[in-house]
Amino acid sequence: MNKKIIGSILIILLLFLGYSSYHWIFNEGSDGTPQLVNGEINIEELYKNDFSDQNITEYNLTAEEVEWSLENGKKVNAWTYNGSVPGEPLRVTEGDILKVNLKNNLDVPVTIHWHGAILPNVMDGVPDLTQEAVQPGDTFTYQFEAKHPGTYWYHSHQHSALQVDKGLYGSLVVEERDQQNNYDREQILILDEWATDRNPESLTTMPGMMMGGMNGEADTKQMYDTYTVNGKSGTSIEPIMVKKGEKTLLRIINAGYQVQRLSFPKGTTKVVAYDAIKTLDKNNQASVIEVAPGERVDLEVSNHQSKPWFVSNLTSLEDGVNASIPVITNKNDNYENIEPNQAKEGSSIDGATLGNKNLIFEDTPNQVDVSYEMDLNMGMDMGDGMVFQINEQQFPNTPPIEVEEGDIVKVEINNNGRFNHPMHLHSHRFQVESKNDQKLNEPIVKDLINVKPGETFEIFFKADNKGEWLFHCHDNNHADLGMMTIVDYESVYSPFVE
Ligand code: C2O
Ligand code: CU
Repeated sequence: MNKKIIGSILIILLLFLGYSSYHWIFNEGSDGTPQLVNGEINIEELYKNDFSDQNITEYNLTAEEVEWSLENGKKVNAWTYNGSVPGEPLRVTEGDILKVNLKNNLDVPVTIHWHGAILPNVMDGVPDLTQEAVQPGDTFTYQFEAKHPGTYWYHSHQHSALQVDKGLYGSLVVEERDQQNNYDREQILILDEWATDRNPESLTTMPGMMMGGMNGEADTKQMYDTYTVNGKSGTSIEPIMVKKGEKTLLRIINAGYQVQRLSFPKGTTKVVAYDAIKTLDKNNQASVIEVAPGERVDLEVSNHQSKPWFVSNLTSLEDGVNASIPVITNKNDNYENIEPNQAKEGSSIDGATLGNKNLIFEDTPNQVDVSYEMDLNMGMDMGDGMVFQINEQQFPNTPPIEVEEGDIVKVEINNNGRFNHPMHLHSHRFQVESKNDQKLNEPIVKDLINVKPGETFEIFFKADNKGEWLFHCHDNNHADLGMMTIVDYESVYSPFVE
């Protein structure tokens, strides 16, 4: 062979080696090396699904349409998980694996989002961001560790404004492994509101939206007419059973879009947790408990009475309907002739009142890596009419919060508009350090903060869960009309973004 031929063979060989090693490093990932695209890792590769040494609690949930009776004479076509509103209640022990096989028997795509849970990004249930929506007839399995005990809920994140409205939600309780608090009983209360003879979708663009109104929720009041507790309204609301002298734990979840205020007799309540995070033991008694959209409250209630009484739903009573919850001591107790008490005497507690035992930051971080100003307001869009915006933009054009793993992030949330905006961050907990420029004496750790008109909150979180995460208003009508952004970890990318 002459030298020329040997030379060209060598060159071809070198080129081939070069090409294949390039290919191997940047595309294949066959030995577990992450697949890099523009220096970013696919979020699917952050998910380690080896649960071989952990207990698994498994459920099957089928998304299906049923005719659901809210009350005598009030039937709705509901979309449900397993045929009821709320969907099947899920329970799992802290540290165990929750495995849920979702089957979609609806004729629209659905997902499940695990509201409040800290989990791997691809289990977050956000269509076109963390997964492909589950198409009619298809299945999807969610599987993740239930890290922190407390009250959570699950709901579809596909076209949430419509699908959560139609009933695609349920409770998720993560039980403490070493349970200390022995309540005599426990009860889950999921609050919601329905449009039984109005069409919420056609109302979102009505001029009434511009009015604002007294309480920051004129839009919701205009759209919905029926209040429910555990999927039932009026006299069909299931009573709470608690004997005189007993204590019960109420796990209250607001799946609707307006603040619900529940009134209890003086000296009967003790707030245990907000958003699954234990609150301080002091000043936690009140007679009125506020629950914002998306928020959860664990409330200890003692019954000092032998006769039935009502947990008065003040929000519903003010609107001229009654969604109060009877409290009975005996199955046969008759409460028909008892009236809910509308008195609002006594103090009131909301999600921005009580500090927490376990903080993320001992002191307000004085050095932050990322600082983001989030201005919430309404705006006009040529195509959509009235829209809800973050920094004068509508999702997906809202500026993302760009972070790197390990960053300390500060977000200043300003509500310059006339509506309440319960802002929820996926799969991270944040610490509220100040309200209306006043430093809080007792910082609050949450995953949702209700920002009322004119209010400002300063929150801090640690970027410690890589992925692409939503941060949005939990009045899903506002979110669907633009009030949403993404916490975008710069070293990862989602293959599901359209
Ligand atoms: Cu209840 Cu985006 O969440
Ligand atoms: Cu909002």
